[in-house]
Amino acid sequence: MLGSGGSRVAFAALPAAVRRGVEDVLGSPVVRAVSQPGGFSPGSADRVRTADARRAFVKAVGLPLNPDSPGIHRDEARIAGWLPSDLPVPALLGAVDVDGWVALVLEDVDGAVPALPWTRTDLDAVLRALADLAQRATPCPVPDLPDARTAMAAQLAGLDRLAERPGPPEPALPDLEPLRRLAVRGLAALDGDTLVHGDLRADNVLVTGAGAVLVDWPWACRGPAWLDTLLLLVEVERFGGHDVDGLLATLPLTRDVDPDDLTGVLAGLVGYFLDAARQPPPPGLPTVREFQRVQGVALLDWVRARVSAGFRTGRVEPPARA
Ligand SMILES: Nc1ncnc2c1ncn2[C@@H]1O[C@H](COP(=O)(O)OP(=O)(O)OP(=O)(O)O)[C@@H](O)[C@H]1O
Ligand SMILES: [Mg+2]
Repeated sequence: MLGSGGSRVAFAALPAAVRRGVEDVLGSPVVRAVSQPGGFSPGSADRVRTADARRAFVKAVGLPLNPDSPGIHRDEARIAGWLPSDLPVPALLGAVDVDGWVALVLEDVDGAVPALPWTRTDLDAVLRALADLAQRATPCPVPDLPDARTAMAAQLAGLDRLAERPGPPEPALPDLEPLRRLAVRGLAALDGDTLVHGDLRADNVLVTGAGAVLVDWPWACRGPAWLDTLLLLVEVERFGGHDVDGLLATLPLTRDVDPDDLTGVLAGLVGYFLDAARQPPPPGLPTVREFQRVQGVALLDWVRARVSAGFRTGRVEPPARA
């Protein structure tokens, strides 16, 4: 269930104007649509084939499904339109914006979502894609993206919100103050001018014979080249089987980053997940809160373990164990 579970609308159930718009982009009627699992969104997500045998991927969402989702798809359409063709991403073929619905028509990627727990092969493929991104997408090629510090400030303030309004008490956070100090440090480290995906999990990756392709770009920002690797490892660590601290200490993109800065960003994310998890579920996204709770609890354990393993600078007090 984790990492998926939205209730996707079928392509055939989209409003006629949306389907017509998609077919105009493709230049031929859609004759087959196979809905894709993965993700949390209530929108459609289909690999489609047209009467003239073209293939594409189509995702669409409308105001009746969730009032915020069309704006998120609109952001993704703008960003996808700017992504250079030499990046490991699908090309945007076109977008449709009609009657409160937004659809993206993207190049179809014939790949598989990585299985969980992550295999070393899939993980290596994504790490290679991120190394590629760091090289080809610095400076950031997409204009007008928020910088990572601004983009993550609200997330990393989750610990402040937990402090202001504690509870429900799952899990108890006796080390909230040290976690908050760490998060401030993490936020301060978010300099950089690399294109950052910002939402890397298995369900936003497809692994093909030629390597990993990164999909679902609405949360992209401009920031440090190491950030996506760190964010990816949050999920990798939760499902186990890999020495994530060893990876952070040795991977070319992360090995020169102060480990305390990495721990700081992770500490801030603990706050984000645990604060978000106690909010009511957004319309059409019934599983996202449970995902956030489980991810937040797992990440808290990881942060505590990193802190216990020893701070290099000693500038921050280690959080007490619960
Ligand atoms: N270009 C593509 N080609 C083939 N399949 C794709 C493509 N893009 C995405 N997919 C598949 O569709 C699923 C959903 O796509 P995506 O993550 O873009 O949609 P979403 O509804 O925005 O998801 P989320 O709920 O994560 O926001 C992915 O997990 C992947 O399996
Ligand atoms: Mg997704």
